[in-house]
Amino acid sequence: MPPTTPPPHAVLTEIERRHARPVWPPRLDRIAYGGDYNPEQWPEDVWDEDVRLMREAGVNLVSVGVFSWALLEPAEGEYDLAWMGRVLQRLHDAGILVDLATPTASPPVWLTRAYPRSRPVTREGHVLGFGARQAFCPSSPEYRQAAARIVERLATTFGDHPALVLWHVHNEYGGKVPACYCDVSAEAFRRWLEERYGDVATLNDAWGTTFWGQRYRVWDEIEPPRLAPAPVNPAQQLDFMRFSSDEHLACFRLERDILHQLTPHVPVTTNFMATSCKDVDYWRWAGEVDVISNDHYLEAERPDNHVGLAMAADLTRSLAAGQPWLLMEHSTGAVNWQPRNVAKAPGEMRRNSLTHVARGADGVLFFQWRASRFGAEKFHSAMLPHGGTATRTWRDVTQLGADLAALQEVRGSRVRADVAVVWDWPSWWALELEWRPSCDLSYLDRVGAFYEALWRAHLGVDFVAPDADLQGYPLVVVPSLYLTTAAAASNLHAYVAAGGHLLVSFFSGIVDEHDTIHPGAHPGALRDLLGLTVEEFHPLRQGETVGVGGGLRGSVWSEAVVPDGAEVVLSYDDGPDAGEPAVTRHRRGRGLAWYVSTRLDPPGLAGVLDAVLDEAGVERPAAGLPAHVEVVRRVWDGASYLFVINHGGAAVAVPATGTDLLTGARLDGQASVPAAGVVVVREEPQ
Ligand code: GAL
Repeated sequence: MPPTTPPPHAVLTEIERRHARPVWPPRLDRIAYGGDYNPEQWPEDVWDEDVRLMREAGVNLVSVGVFSWALLEPAEGEYDLAWMGRVLQRLHDAGILVDLATPTASPPVWLTRAYPRSRPVTREGHVLGFGARQAFCPSSPEYRQAAARIVERLATTFGDHPALVLWHVHNEYGGKVPACYCDVSAEAFRRWLEERYGDVATLNDAWGTTFWGQRYRVWDEIEPPRLAPAPVNPAQQLDFMRFSSDEHLACFRLERDILHQLTPHVPVTTNFMATSCKDVDYWRWAGEVDVISNDHYLEAERPDNHVGLAMAADLTRSLAAGQPWLLMEHSTGAVNWQPRNVAKAPGEMRRNSLTHVARGADGVLFFQWRASRFGAEKFHSAMLPHGGTATRTWRDVTQLGADLAALQEVRGSRVRADVAVVWDWPSWWALELEWRPSCDLSYLDRVGAFYEALWRAHLGVDFVAPDADLQGYPLVVVPSLYLTTAAAASNLHAYVAAGGHLLVSFFSGIVDEHDTIHPGAHPGALRDLLGLTVEEFHPLRQGETVGVGGGLRGSVWSEAVVPDGAEVVLSYDDGPDAGEPAVTRHRRGRGLAWYVSTRLDPPGLAGVLDAVLDEAGVERPAAGLPAHVEVVRRVWDGASYLFVINHGGAAVAVPATGTDLLTGARLDGQASVPAAGVVVVREEPQ
C-alpha cells in the first residue's frame, strides 16, 4: 500500500534545502506544453491556423527555428530575420511563449562551401557531405565563428521580444557526429592532451605506449584514434571520447556566453538525450545549462519500453540535481527512424507524458507541432498529423493539454528517491571498447537490469556520479563500473564505512581512467571493500547459463571469486565455478558491500535485491501492487501528489485519499486506475 507521507529515508537534496520552490519556466502559470514548431516549412497563411490550433490544444510554449540557419542567413553575413519576427509576433499575440533555437546544428551550404575544412570526417577518413544536418566539425574555427555570429544576431534582434522565455542552443550535441577525426580536430586534440598531461612523457606513461611500440616523442606525432589495422590504444580512445565531449561543450559554452551576455534575463538550455547518448558526458554538462531539458523516444518495438522511459526521466532529473526539468521532445506516435516504427497504442502517449511529469518534468514538448510533408521526417508523428484535427492523435493532444492544465499546482514539487544507482559515461565507454573478455558485456544491459528490478519494486531511483555525495541514500547500486577511478573507489569506501549499503555487479573496479588494470588481483579498486578477489574471469558461451543458489540462473559471466573477509550468500550450482561463491557480502565499517558475480536473470536479481533492500532498511510500501503499476510521488512542503500509471490491461485499485486532479473527483481511501490509464491524486494526510 502506498504511504501517505514520503518514506523517512527519502533524500532531500542540498538544493531543495536551499531554495524556495522554484517553478519553471518563468512567466508561465502552467506546465509547459508544446513542441518543435517549423513554420518555415509552410506558407504564412498556415501559420494563422497553427496558432489557432495551438490555442485549441492548450499549447503555451514552442521551440522555433531549430534548423533554420539557411533561411536566417541565406548567404554569409546576409540576414533575413523578418520572417522570424512575424512568427514570434503571431505567437506572442496568441499568448504562446517561445523557446528560440540557435540554428547551429544545421549549418547552411554556403558555410560548407566556403570553409570545406569545417566538414566532419569519420574515423575511416570519409568527409561527410552536405544534404542532411549536423555537418560540422566542432573544432572548426570557421564553424565556431559563424555560429557565434548568427547567435549574436538572433540575440540582438529578438533578445527583448516579449514572447522569448528560453534559448534552445543547438540541437542534441553529439547526436549525429559524436566525434570528428579531421586534421583540425587532430590539432585541437593535441592541445587538449597537452593541457591534460603537460608533457609527452607523462602521456606515454598514462597511455602505456610501451605496448605495441607506440611511444611518442613530440605532440605532433599524436593522432585521433583513426581506423587502424588493430584496436587503437584504449587509453587514447578514451581520451579522444573525453576530448570530443569537451569540444561539443566548448561549442555550447561559446553560444551560451554570448546569450548570457546579451540577454541575461533569458535562461539557456540545450536538449540532452539522457540514457540514449553514449558519447557526451552529461555530468560535465549539467552545471553548464540554466535549465535541464531532455529528448526521449521509446524503443518502439519493446513491449516494456515504459521502463526505459522512466529510467531516462530519472537520469534527467538527477542531472538537474532534483530540480524541475523540461521534456523538450518526445513523440505523439511513431517515429520514422527505427527499423519498425510501431505507433503508440491508445492511451500510451498520455501515459508517457504524465510519467515524465511524475518523474519531475515541468514541461512536455513534442517533436513536432505539424507533420512535415517533405524531407526525411515526413513519416514522423506530430501533434497535428497529416490527417489534421479529425484524428485520434489530435483528440489525444487536446486532451493532454487539458490534463496538464489540471496539474498546474504540481509544478516545482520534487521527486524523492529511495535508492541511488551509479551512472558513469567514461565507464560505459571503456567497458564497450574492443577486446573485452566477452562481447556480451553491455553497460546499459546492467544498469537497465538493476533499474528495472527497482522499478518493479516501485522504488524511486536517483542516478549519481561515482564521486557524488552518497550520504543519505540507504542503498547505492553499482552496475558494472568497469572503470573506477581512485576518487570513485574512495568515495564508495567512505560511504560503506559510514554505514551505507552497496550492491556491486561483476566487472567493476577493474581499471583506472586510462584503462590500466588496478594493481594486484581483480577487482583492484574494490577488492578491500568487497572482501574478495577474482582469480579468473569465466565468460560463458552464447546462450549458456549457470545455476545459482539452487534455482536461479545466470548468463554471460561467471568468475572465480575467492572470499577474503566476505561471507558467501549464494554459490554456483554448476558451470566453470560450480560450488564457488556467486553472491557475497562483506561488512566493512558500519556498512555492508554486496557483490553479484554473474548476470542473474530477472527473478534472481529481484530475489537478491529483496535481501539487500531488507538489510538496508528500505521500505517498500507499494510492494503489494502489480509490477506494471507505476507509483511515483512528487512532494513539496507538506503537499504530496501521487501519480499512478497503469500499464496493464485491467483497472487496478490503489489506496488513496484526496482529490483526483485529472477528474476533480474526491477519493476516500481508494482510487480506481483504469486499464492503460493514469490517476494523479493531491493527497490528504489520513
Ligand atoms: C530528435 C531530433 C529532432 C527530430 C527527432 C525525430 O533526435 O532532435 O530534430 O529529428 O529526433 O524523432
